[in-house]
Amino acid sequence: MAMKYLKSFVYGLTVVSVILMAWYVAFPSHTVMEHIDWLYFYKHEPVYKQTFLFTLRERLKCKDNPFLVILVSSRPSNVKARQAIRITWGSQRSWWGKQVLTLFLLGKGTEKEDARALSVEDESILYGDIIQQDFLDTYRNLTLKTIMAFRWVTEFCSSAQYVMKTDDDVFINTGNLVKFLLNTNASENFMTGYPLIENYPYRGFYWKSYISYDEYPFKVYPPYWSGLGYVLDVRLARRVYKMMSHVKPFKFEDVYVGICLGILGVKLFVPDDVELFFLYRIRFDICKYKHLIAAHAISPQEIIIFWQTVTRESTSLPCH
Ligand SMILES: *[C@@H]1O[C@H](CO)[C@@H](O)[C@H](O)[C@H]1NC(C)=O
Ligand SMILES: *[C@@H]1O[C@H](CO)[C@@H](O)[C@H](O)[C@H]1NC(C)=O
Repeated sequence: MAMKYLKSFVYGLTVVSVILMAWYVAFPSHTVMEHIDWLYFYKHEPVYKQTFLFTLRERLKCKDNPFLVILVSSRPSNVKARQAIRITWGSQRSWWGKQVLTLFLLGKGTEKEDARALSVEDESILYGDIIQQDFLDTYRNLTLKTIMAFRWVTEFCSSAQYVMKTDDDVFINTGNLVKFLLNTNASENFMTGYPLIENYPYRGFYWKSYISYDEYPFKVYPPYWSGLGYVLDVRLARRVYKMMSHVKPFKFEDVYVGICLGILGVKLFVPDDVELFFLYRIRFDICKYKHLIAAHAISPQEIIIFWQTVTRESTSLPCH
């Protein structure tokens, strides 16, 4: 009799522990912190200072103190995208009397990529518009590329007034961008783009967006500008670069810049006009494209067609 009870007791205990274990695996008890503690990211000593070597650095490009430098994140194999930009929105050296410089940001290609017909070195000799460091150019290393951009501006282009960081699948209406900056009151904290406010960290299974609780234990990301394209005062870029050596590189380059801005206490200046920066792909519309500054997810062929259309059409279009 006692034996029978003992058996059911052990059986019951087993069932309960299996359920508890399954519960624990399915719903791990992470302590998600409600408010961002900047000290979680900030190290007093500059232990994260990057020392990757510039293999291509275009260090004399800024000798004429350009008004705006556009730095385009690209990959060694994306030659088509760079060519499209060179003959379209990156082709003109001057807008409204202001000097504009367009350069590309590259890491080191894989061996297969390095064996291409037109190597990055050849391309650099041909066009003189490539900045490169010797880290592997991968999706996970994108933040290193952004740090490289801020470092390059600080070391070789601190006489410029504004710098923009964008991607090679973005259509930029360069003339509008320059006009927008000319109408902006200069400020040491100026920065704009497509704001992401109250963005929640993704904890699911898709590796590209996933972030662990260790890397980011807070409930919500700080306000930040989408990596599609942000533009800032060079004085601010230099302060951000300095801060970067105190903050561990974070998986998402735009959130990383947002963390640095947060520590610096810089607030987001959201433009009143919401038709300037487009994070999600928008269909071609001549009036929209004549008005905007940046549109994301555009192929090299489209960049060429859209640019030709936008610059060819007369200014007497009935756009509102
Ligand atoms: C980033 O670049 C470094 C330096 O080349 C390399 O060692 C590392 O494997 C790269 N990381 C990733 C995740 O690709
Ligand atoms: C710039 O400053 C002037 C004068 O203080 C102000 O009237 C104007 O609205 C400001 N422009 C912007 C874009 O903030």
